[in-house]
Amino acid sequence: MLRIAPSLLSADFADIRAQIQAVQSAGADQLHLDVMDGRFVPNLTWGPKIIGDLRKLSPLPFDCHLMIVEPERYVDAFRKAGADIITFHYEATDHAQRLLAHLRSIGAKAGISLCPQTPVAMLDDIIEDCDLVLIMSVNPGFGGQSFIPRSYEKIRQARALIDARNPGCMLEVDGGIGASNLRDVVAAGADTFVMGSSIFDTQDPGAALEAMRTILAQA
Ligand code: DX5
Ligand code: ZN
Repeated sequence: MLRIAPSLLSADFADIRAQIQAVQSAGADQLHLDVMDGRFVPNLTWGPKIIGDLRKLSPLPFDCHLMIVEPERYVDAFRKAGADIITFHYEATDHAQRLLAHLRSIGAKAGISLCPQTPVAMLDDIIEDCDLVLIMSVNPGFGGQSFIPRSYEKIRQARALIDARNPGCMLEVDGGIGASNLRDVVAAGADTFVMGSSIFDTQDPGAALEAMRTILAQA
């Protein structure tokens, strides 16, 4: 199954109810919520309060991407606020396996993300503990950046690891994805596609998402 996860980072929060409604009616599979702390990445977004408020606006799975240091301090609060998938960064904690196991124990899907400089080999000893692997195809922190081409090879490597050892694990890619490269990201083996600016920095986010769905249907 191929899934589209629109990233609300690029949405207009003055009109967030309508923006969510637009992508939901157009067939979004999950909502991607980027949490930034100004330390792990040089930008700030929102915390559990806002996610709890957004929770009232949509029944879609909430896919929370934590770009924060010491994520273990906050995951319970995000779970309570309504996060279904919680993804932290391999680079942001000393004990990734412990945190993955903890996420499952609180009923979340356990996700781990790799920055562009981190090899897929770092997942060798923890892949069975993951429900989602997120390959960052840009340096995290901002929407609207260009896809780093080396990411294709990392997606292929992650696909091989997942197929061999944990076939149910989702393989998500985030950063610089749009109509011009979505097909290639699918071909490399990803199944879940985060898109921010290519959906929300348009006149009609619903139509933009439908156009992406058409590309996936033909891929
Ligand atoms: C960036 C975030 C992304 C961001 C992607 O650090 O993790 O989810 O919204 O934005 P685009 O799709 O514009 O590259
Ligand atoms: Zn993200």
